[in-house]
Amino acid sequence: MSELIWLNGQVMPLSEARIGVEDRGYQFADGVYEVVRFYGGKLFTLTQHMDRLERSAAGISLPMALPKAELIDQINRFLPRTGLKEGMIYLQMTRGCSPRNHVFPECKGTLLFYARELPPVPAPGTAPGLTLISVPDERWSRCWVKSIALLPNVLAKNVATAQGADEAVFVLDGNVSECCASNFFAVSRGKVLTHPVGPKVLPGITRMVLLEMAEQVGVEVVERPVSEAEALAADEVFITSTTRELAWVKTWNGRTIGRGECGPVTLRLHQAFAQRVKAETR
Ligand code: PDD
Repeated sequence: MSELIWLNGQVMPLSEARIGVEDRGYQFADGVYEVVRFYGGKLFTLTQHMDRLERSAAGISLPMALPKAELIDQINRFLPRTGLKEGMIYLQMTRGCSPRNHVFPECKGTLLFYARELPPVPAPGTAPGLTLISVPDERWSRCWVKSIALLPNVLAKNVATAQGADEAVFVLDGNVSECCASNFFAVSRGKVLTHPVGPKVLPGITRMVLLEMAEQVGVEVVERPVSEAEALAADEVFITSTTRELAWVKTWNGRTIGRGECGPVTLRLHQAFAQRVKAETR
């Protein structure tokens, strides 16, 4: 079956969808996005993602192209039409197509979403450990907005890839903020340390669920800036995102983290996360 897209209310083959060259997403990166995972054809934390979409849109003074409840309804109706069971919805909302001008136009926004298949996430503790490298955090100070302006993240990812690493860690003033497409966590003496969300850290939905699960299983989480040196010396390091869930880190800047294995706290949290996914996507 050809891939489908929902574009401004019309469902069509993705290959036939067209956006104007003066769409502000294309010319100014004037838009926001979301990535939502689905398991067995059921969307996970869709409402939380749409809540964040609303906050991101408000963060750039972008009106919602559809009321949130209607958008949730449209996504829920769209997914079964794709026939996909394991994957993600990519959603993008821009300020629309209008003659190029920095001033906000009076035009309708562009809203689209499509589904893409992804391999199932490996069961907790079964994936190989990731390799990270540090890069300077050169991003703007509204990283809590899930903006489509991702060039610093793209450049960082490519620095990582060129060095054979899986993910780049942003470091600002000696502290780790997050990774180029995931949130960052260090485990030290049984406690999970992570930078607070805000100017330099996206409020990840996986992060949010993880903090809830940590509380449930009795793992203490401390939200504070963590220096790169402290994190490099941690017992465990892991990252979180919608597409990866929790992924443990084996090496970072060429150093082995802890014992070079998926540590007990990471494993416990990933197991709790996987149970939550199972319970919510039954
Ligand atoms: N990225 N931080 C950044 C900079 C991200 O781009 C992402 C997600 C996260 C994790 O957020 P969440 O748990 O809500 O996925 C943190 C998505 C997956 C992407 O750009 O593909």
